[in-house]
Amino acid sequence: MPEQAQEKQANVRSEPSRRFCVAPMMDWTTTHYRYLARQLSRNTLLYTEMVTTGALIHGDTARFLRHDPAEYPLALQLGGSNPQELAHCAALAEQYGFDEVNLNVGCPSDRVQNNMIGACLMAYPDKVAEGVRAMINATRLPVTVKHRIGIDGRESWDELCEFIEKVSEAGCRTFIVHARIAVLEGLSPKENRDIPPLKYDWVYRLKARYPHLEIIINGGIKTFDECRQHLEHTDGVMLGREAYHNPWLLAGVDTEFFGQAGPAQSRHEALRAVLPFLQDELDRGVFLSHMSRHLMGLFHGQPGGRQFRRYISENAHKPGSGVEVIEQAMARVPEPENASILPATAPSKTPA
Ligand SMILES: Cc1cc2nc3c(=O)[nH]c(=O)nc-3n(C[C@H](O)[C@H](O)[C@H](O)COP(=O)(O)O)c2cc1C
Repeated sequence: MPEQAQEKQANVRSEPSRRFCVAPMMDWTTTHYRYLARQLSRNTLLYTEMVTTGALIHGDTARFLRHDPAEYPLALQLGGSNPQELAHCAALAEQYGFDEVNLNVGCPSDRVQNNMIGACLMAYPDKVAEGVRAMINATRLPVTVKHRIGIDGRESWDELCEFIEKVSEAGCRTFIVHARIAVLEGLSPKENRDIPPLKYDWVYRLKARYPHLEIIINGGIKTFDECRQHLEHTDGVMLGREAYHNPWLLAGVDTEFFGQAGPAQSRHEALRAVLPFLQDELDRGVFLSHMSRHLMGLFHGQPGGRQFRRYISENAHKPGSGVEVIEQAMARVPEPENASILPATAPSKTPA
């Protein structure tokens, strides 16, 4: 077990709040993105990219589960359906120090469908329940499920309720609901994130019908105003693309949703706090360009933001590039004189 995980287990674990979450996103919510996100908000629950049980069991387990303790609270998302394998991987999640283990029942890609992973499992609530039960028996961590409101051919309200009932009877009490169906025949994963219409009212109805369950809403949420509205009907919100493309949004989360000051006073300060981590990663042999692409959104919409991104694009891939590229890029953006540029009171919209 890594030292960091041992240390963490010595402490009392408390269940993370899911009031505000950043969604699992393959190739996007890497350890480097998450490290930046954590400089902006202490309370946001972060999710890893999906890792399949097959990759964890037959591949380089330590590499797939690698993260920095600074990223906590952090949930590991698994893709799989074999109960023994899911149980094994849930135990690994605990061993490695994660705060939650989540099962992906929402991914529509063909590749995963062929392996009975992701959204296709919505057609097999008993199988999901069996997997969830095995995971719960294998770990003390909370086991949660992220799913759609249906899939093509199985998109009725009653079928959604059957899914929730079977999986909650297996012991799952937290459901993260992407408020649109997945069309498994004929739409790409990307199209499946935009084309099927959002039905937020279905998620609200789930919370009303199953008030004892924790229901987190996901899909198309961009502003704090929208979050506040959803929180009137659900227990938490999960943002994906907006949190990635505009990570500064997270700088307002602690104030807005947790009544605490956030850790970063400015974008520059947050980015400076990431540099030592980038240096450690460079020392391990990680390429700068592999990490810097996840920092690109930080100055989104800011004067100088384009120059920041351009400087990184033109220089990060060069052999031997180090953190000085990020420093140089940052120097292209005017730094606010007064570091405290967050509004004193909670912003009503995404912080500019
Ligand atoms: C690039 C990308 C990768 C994604 N990978 C995953 C994944 O690994 N697991 C998962 O459950 N959802 C994945 N999703 C879906 C998101 O978690 C989320 O459900 C979806 O983007 C809708 O939320 P949003 O509108 O706030 O982005 C991915 C989305 C994107 C854009």
